[in-house]
Amino acid sequence: MTQDRHTNKRVLLTGGAGFIGSHTYVALIEAGYDVAILDNFENARRDVPDRLEQIVGTPAQVFDCDIRNTEAVQGVFAAEQFDAVVHFAALKSVPESQSNPMGYFETNCIGLYNIASAMQATGVSRIVFSSSAAIYGNPESMPIAEETPACPQSVYAQTKRVGEEFLTSLAQATPDLRLGILRYFNPVGAHPSGLIGEDPSQTPTNLVPVIARVASGQMAELRIFGGDYPTPDGTGIRDYIHVLDLARGHVLSLDALFGETGSHCVNLGTGTGYSVMDVVKTYERVSGRTIPYHITDRRAGDPAVSCAATGQAKAVLGFEAQLGLEDMCVGNWHFLNRQNR
Ligand code: UFG
Repeated sequence: MTQDRHTNKRVLLTGGAGFIGSHTYVALIEAGYDVAILDNFENARRDVPDRLEQIVGTPAQVFDCDIRNTEAVQGVFAAEQFDAVVHFAALKSVPESQSNPMGYFETNCIGLYNIASAMQATGVSRIVFSSSAAIYGNPESMPIAEETPACPQSVYAQTKRVGEEFLTSLAQATPDLRLGILRYFNPVGAHPSGLIGEDPSQTPTNLVPVIARVASGQMAELRIFGGDYPTPDGTGIRDYIHVLDLARGHVLSLDALFGETGSHCVNLGTGTGYSVMDVVKTYERVSGRTIPYHITDRRAGDPAVSCAATGQAKAVLGFEAQLGLEDMCVGNWHFLNRQNR
């Protein structure tokens, strides 16, 4: 839409070395933005900035900083003047959030407060916030529209909802502040270079990283959580979205904040749901491997179906996902193989 229109806009990506952050870095650079990364590398590989340099051709500027550290955050904002922040930095595991709620509130809420506070102190008036479809909980009607009341079912989801509400209140009380809330559905895939992707060094709990482990022989089998859902094959249905599409959504969100559109809150999904079984079959096809599995009990808190209503993202941002499940599995498998080489 507005490639190169905002060439001189300087954007700070918190969590910019992570899975979605690193892909968004590439997309923003390609769109002409001037981008810096803030990350503490707790859940990202140290060599991601070098890999980003290989992809975009210029060195990445990196602030090694923990968003929980108020003074360190202030130091970053004192060192540079930014025009906008894209705030990815957060903890994101649902089960971990249940066992460490204080840690989740500290990073996801106090960390966000530190960023917003430093933005206010230095006159940064645009922020894109990573939110999640998890804030909807288990709504009855599908697809899920943005107006659906929030009903977080986990500490993780609650921290994201608190973040949304905090920033929304702040924007209402601060006339200059423009806010983009992006509610991600299930991100999968990797950059076609195979240089960046979902970090395989973590013990995965999400479906595709687990399948990838099984396909590569690092795990014996996939446990499918529930085969008796009211879905065509009995397994859970999700709206998987390619991380490249998601990254492009952030470019459009920033473009909107710098343009006429202003503040917005949208889902980022494809609108198409795939079952666990669909993902297994597709991954088997693209990898040429067999994925052994067995069906176990349902996982607590899992909805049967989660699919995005995509009309608002299209109407407000002009966003439509372009890549499908096969592209996502190919990207994931290619990334994994490059790491293991
Ligand atoms: N699943 C399995 N076996 C596994 C892992 C997952 O059968 O080993 C199933 C789940 O039961 C579900 C589907 O695969 O039906 C997807 O599960 P994920 O864990 O990959 O994703 P979720 O939909 O549970 O959650 C993801 C993110 C959350 C985010 C949410 C938004 O992990 O952070 O999407 O809806 F909040």
